[in-house]
Amino acid sequence: MLKTRAAITAVGAYLPETILDNKTLETMVDTNDEWIVTRTGIKERRILKEPNKATAFMATKAAENLLHKTGLDPKEIDLIIVATATPDMPVVATAAQVITAIGATKAFGYDLEAACSGFLYGLSTASAYIESGRYTKVLLIGADMMSSIVNYEDRTTCVLFGDGAGAVLLEPNNDGNGYLDEYLRSDGVGKNHLGIEAGGSVMPPTAQTVAEKKHYIYQDGQVVFKFAVTHMADAAEQIMLRNELTNKDVQYLVSHQANKRIIDATARRMGIVEEKVLMNIERYGNTTAATIPLLLNDYEDLFKKGDNIVVSAFGAGFTWGAALLKWAYNSKD
Ligand code: UT7
Repeated sequence: MLKTRAAITAVGAYLPETILDNKTLETMVDTNDEWIVTRTGIKERRILKEPNKATAFMATKAAENLLHKTGLDPKEIDLIIVATATPDMPVVATAAQVITAIGATKAFGYDLEAACSGFLYGLSTASAYIESGRYTKVLLIGADMMSSIVNYEDRTTCVLFGDGAGAVLLEPNNDGNGYLDEYLRSDGVGKNHLGIEAGGSVMPPTAQTVAEKKHYIYQDGQVVFKFAVTHMADAAEQIMLRNELTNKDVQYLVSHQANKRIIDATARRMGIVEEKVLMNIERYGNTTAATIPLLLNDYEDLFKKGDNIVVSAFGAGFTWGAALLKWAYNSKD
């Protein structure tokens, strides 16, 4: 029998109904549709407007969508990991809220924070539990309410981000498919270029931090762009080299959706044609930990058993990496 791997066996998603398009942003800040589309590839993004609802709500909806599609009894789930940079509350685990909301009464859960690489790192964590034999049904959710930390007076960030959630179920697989390899790295230099200054233990909230708008996300776009292009392409290339994959062997690139130009640069380094590069950035913008599961959900019908899918991400920290997934089911069956 082949080694036990962790395989994605189902996907689900949730996107808020409210659409914030580039035309509307033109009325809010000094920007224009042409700049946003040519520099980022984004045309619109979703914003969660429901009162008192936040990341846990979207994560729950994504989980419910997956349960509805599969008919899975939530009581069969062992563990729920929520990758998020925008938990509902600083100390409370978002995953605990999801567990109670969906009735996963035999599960435990916790949050994982690695910004835009959260879902990719979560794949590593979830897979390790399954490969070890400790658990057999792990729900991994990527969910972020970026609108809660974006300053809608700052044109350099407010055009980039959106809200959303995606979920995948991971289960043991013994036919050679599943999560095969990973190349993950982090570098603390990133805190100078992308993050939120206040609200954590180093700068607790005060009236002054609020007045100085230090609870909003900041980004030195050009620096982050250069790091992202170099590191994400390097990681994807490493995955191909280590697994002796040529550009013909790779069926799809499922990359974090921060900027179309960064994704194109990664694809160029991999030598893969445009049709293999999956994107939805034009519709959702950068949803941080949710971009990758949202792509898996949008393109699920395309995937066939045995497809080699390279997953890549780059985010605050810095955190980045790439992984190799051999898709484990024919989604249309
Ligand atoms: O997901 C986590 C990781 N994040 C990323 O990977 C994002 C990486 N960075 C980027 O994607 C790009 O750097 C941005 C999309 C954020 C910015 O694109 P850019 O091509 O690097 O633009 P820039 O920052 O160099 O700005 C060029 C010009 C500036 O004007 P001047 O100084 O040349 O007159 C900006 O002030 O564009 C101006 N600008 C804007 N103009 C219209 C900045 N934001 C806007 C805007 N609308 N929204």
